[in-house]
Amino acid sequence: MPHREDQLRQTVHFLQRYALDPKRSRPLVLSGPSGTGKSSTARLASLIASQHAKKNRVNCGFAAINCQKARTLNGILTGIANFVHPFGITTGLPTDHIAKLIGEKLSEASVSFIIVLDELDFLGEAARAAVVKYLMDVPLNYRSTPFGLVCILREGDIRVGSARTNPLKTAPTGSIKFPPYNTNELRDILLERAEQAFLPGVLPKQTLDLIAENAAGEGSARLGLELLWRSAKLAEQERAREISTGHAQRVMHYTLATTSLEALPNLGDHELIILYAAHSLFKAQAPASVSIGKLEKEYGRVCAKFGLGARKHTQVWGYVRSLGTMGLLRTQMSGKGQRGKTTNISAPGLRGEAVLAELEKALKRRRLVKV
Ligand SMILES: Nc1ncnc2c1ncn2[C@@H]1O[C@H](COP(=O)(O)OP(=O)(O)O)[C@@H](O)[C@H]1O
Ligand SMILES: [Mg+2]
Repeated sequence: MPHREDQLRQTVHFLQRYALDPKRSRPLVLSGPSGTGKSSTARLASLIASQHAKKNRVNCGFAAINCQKARTLNGILTGIANFVHPFGITTGLPTDHIAKLIGEKLSEASVSFIIVLDELDFLGEAARAAVVKYLMDVPLNYRSTPFGLVCILREGDIRVGSARTNPLKTAPTGSIKFPPYNTNELRDILLERAEQAFLPGVLPKQTLDLIAENAAGEGSARLGLELLWRSAKLAEQERAREISTGHAQRVMHYTLATTSLEALPNLGDHELIILYAAHSLFKAQAPASVSIGKLEKEYGRVCAKFGLGARKHTQVWGYVRSLGTMGLLRTQMSGKGQRGKTTNISAPGLRGEAVLAELEKALKRRRLVKV
């Protein structure tokens, strides 16, 4: 991973130190915007560290949990239990029960264990503190070896809440920053991939520059790679001899921002439908902001059109809040001018026209809409 040598070295160092001396380890926080290589660095570092541990006959396991997917403390512990005890059944078990099972399995095997909590800021501050506290208590209650914790966040911190609710409030933590990539760094990253993926000479320098510059707006390698991949697909479809700047320009027009690219696959069906309903409304009116009541009505209409039962009001609220946490919608209490208080919903700075088409594609992929 070009331009992530320092971050990788530091992460590997942390993991190896933990494997050798778990009791003296402190949690590590990786932070930076979407697409800056946090998850990939953690994955690669885990791989390197576990090979190193094996060579030294140290027994150390790893589990990576995506909190955007797992959603709740129960979901996160279920994910960890699946790593610790792959064939055990934990679905529907109470949270305490799963924690106990994890603790027991690990003491039986006497392994040290590192948990990578990815996309932790999706959980919101209170839940974040609760998860961290829980994971730090599992070892105390059931075994002697503490977990190694790697927490990955876009922004924010894990030292949230009070010292009473969050044991990390005052504890020392390690921290590694992942700054947005600049144009030059993105060019290197994209070129390395292009050399692996393409025949020589199909990616002219101007096209590479254009894509790198565009992705540098968000500092995201995810966006850069997505643009490169889509441009190549388009060129291939047209049986062109090379990927032109024209291909790249057309693709840029309808590619989503990096946070949306990452989040869409993790959405539940009804979250996706709500997002689609919201963007249908945004498209129909300017400025792009609607009340929650209006959105709920449109959501009901879309559900009826697809032949699906609509969810209840409180659930819809929960979905809108999740979409807000993921940065896919923006929610705001209405100010003066409207009678009573209501929540207004608008689009964050997404790439306008792209969104509706992309959401439609996602709905088709899930067969919620007839193709
Ligand atoms: N320095 C890098 N070199 C090569 N590929 C990278 C680099 N940084 C990120 N990527 C690629 O960009 C995409 C997003 O990276 P990821 O680690 O998921 O970012 P984050 O977790 O910070 O959102 C992945 O496909 C990853 O392989
Ligand atoms: Mg990530």
